[in-house]
Amino acid sequence: MKIAVIGTGYVGLVSGACFADVGIQVTCVDIDQKKIEKLKNGIMPIYEPGLEELVVRNYRSGRLKFSTDLGEAIQGAEVAFIAVGTPPGEDGSADLKYVLAVADEIGRKMTDYIVVATKSTVPVTTGEKVRAAIKAALEKRVADLPFAVASNPEFLKEGAAVEDFLKPDRIVIGVDDERAEQIMQRLYKPFQLSGDRIIYMDIPSAEMTKYAANAMLATKISFMNDIANLCEKVGADANMVRKGIGSDPRIGTKFIYPGVGYGGSCFPKDVKAIIKTARQYGYELKVLQAVEDVNDAQKHVLANKVKAYFGDDLTGLTFAMWGLSFKPNTDDMREAPAGVIIDELRAAGATVKAYDPVAMEEAKAHYIFDKVTYCKDAYDALVDADALLLVTEWSEFRIPSWQAVGKLLKNKVVFDGRNIYDKNYLKSLGFEHYGIGSK
Ligand code: UDX
Repeated sequence: MKIAVIGTGYVGLVSGACFADVGIQVTCVDIDQKKIEKLKNGIMPIYEPGLEELVVRNYRSGRLKFSTDLGEAIQGAEVAFIAVGTPPGEDGSADLKYVLAVADEIGRKMTDYIVVATKSTVPVTTGEKVRAAIKAALEKRVADLPFAVASNPEFLKEGAAVEDFLKPDRIVIGVDDERAEQIMQRLYKPFQLSGDRIIYMDIPSAEMTKYAANAMLATKISFMNDIANLCEKVGADANMVRKGIGSDPRIGTKFIYPGVGYGGSCFPKDVKAIIKTARQYGYELKVLQAVEDVNDAQKHVLANKVKAYFGDDLTGLTFAMWGLSFKPNTDDMREAPAGVIIDELRAAGATVKAYDPVAMEEAKAHYIFDKVTYCKDAYDALVDADALLLVTEWSEFRIPSWQAVGKLLKNKVVFDGRNIYDKNYLKSLGFEHYGIGSK
C-alpha cells in the first residue's frame, strides 16, 4: 500500500514515519526544500522522543521517502493526507490557505482515484471546501476523475506522539464513500485496534470531534485552575481536592492538575477557533469563552505570587526559572506560560536566569530571544538568584539536591508552578514553598 503525507510538520512527520514503520510505502512531501534535505540526512525539524530513530530506520529501509514533488508522491498512492499548518488568522479562526492550496494541487496532479484525508485540525465544513477545491481543479483540466475526501483528526500529544500514534486509544474517521472507508480500514489494520475503537462517522462530526476533545480537556484544566484559586482564598488545598474528585471515575484523575495555565499549539488555538466558528453560526460558546479567560489569567498567577512576596517593584532582583517549554519532553515554546511570566517579571524590573533541558534553542530562536540569561544547567540558573520559579515539570527538576539549591539561592524561596514539590518536606529543610491552589 502506498500513501502520501503532505506537510512534514509535527503531525505529518510523526504520521508518515509511523505508517512507514508498519510496512506502508510513504512519501512525505513539503514545499520547504531545506527541510526535506535535512530529513533525508536524519535531521529532525522538531524534538520528539523516538522520532529520529523511527525516521532514520524507515528512510534507510526505503519505506519512507521525502520529496518536494507532490505530483510524483501521489502517483499510485491510495491516500493523500493533508497535514499542513492551519495557523490562527487575526480573528482567531483557522487559516485554511495552506490546506486548500494542497487540495488544489492534488486536483491538478492526480491521475487516479485517491482518498484525500485531512489530518490538520480544521474547522467543521473544511471537508466540503477541500472537495470543492479538488473538483474545481479537475474541472479546469477537464478531467473527471473519482476521488473521496475524509477527515481523520489526530489526537497526538507532544512528547508522546510516536507512542500515541502506534498505540492509539481511538481512531476517528469521517468518510462518506464506501471505497474510501475500505481503504482507511486497510490502512489502520496494522495498528490492531479492536473494532469499536475505530470510529467511523460523517465528515462534519469527525471534524467536530477533534475540537470537542481539545475543548473538553482545556475545560478540565481551566475549571481546576479556577477551583485552585478559590482554594487558596478559603484555605483549602487544591491537590487534596484534586485527589478527592479524581477518584470518581465519572470525573477521572487526568487533566485536573492545577498549574500555570495550558499552552502549546493545540489548546489555545483550538479553543479560540471553535468559539469563532460558533459565532459565525450565531452561537456563543459561553463555557469555552470562560475557559480561555481563566487560562489567560492563570498565566499571571506565578508572577503575582512573586510580587506578593517581594513587592510590586522587583528592580534589582534576579529569578531562576526552571523550564521554558509549555510542557515537558518537548521544545515547543508556542503559547508557553513561561513567556508571559518572563515578560511580567521583567516589566516589574527583575532579571531572569533560565534553564530548560531542551527548549532553550527554540526560545532563543523565536520567542524569548535575549529576554533572559540562558544557563548551562539547573544549578547554574540559581547562582545569585533571589528565588526559584518552577515553570515546566521536567523529570530532572523533580528531585534536586535541596542542599545545593539552598546554598546557591539568596533566599530559600520556591514558587512551584506545577505543584511538583512536597510543601512539608521543603518546609522541614527551611524553604518557603508557594504552590498553586494552597496556602
Ligand atoms: C493536546 C491534546 O492532549 C492532544 O490530544 C491533541 O492532539 C493536541 O493537544 P498537547 O498540546 O501536546 O496535546 O499537550 P497536553 O499534554 O495535552 O498538555 C496541554 C497543556 O495543558 C500543557 O500546557 C500542560 O501543561 C497543561 N495541563 C495538562 C495542565 O495544566 N494540567 C493538566 O492536568 C494537564
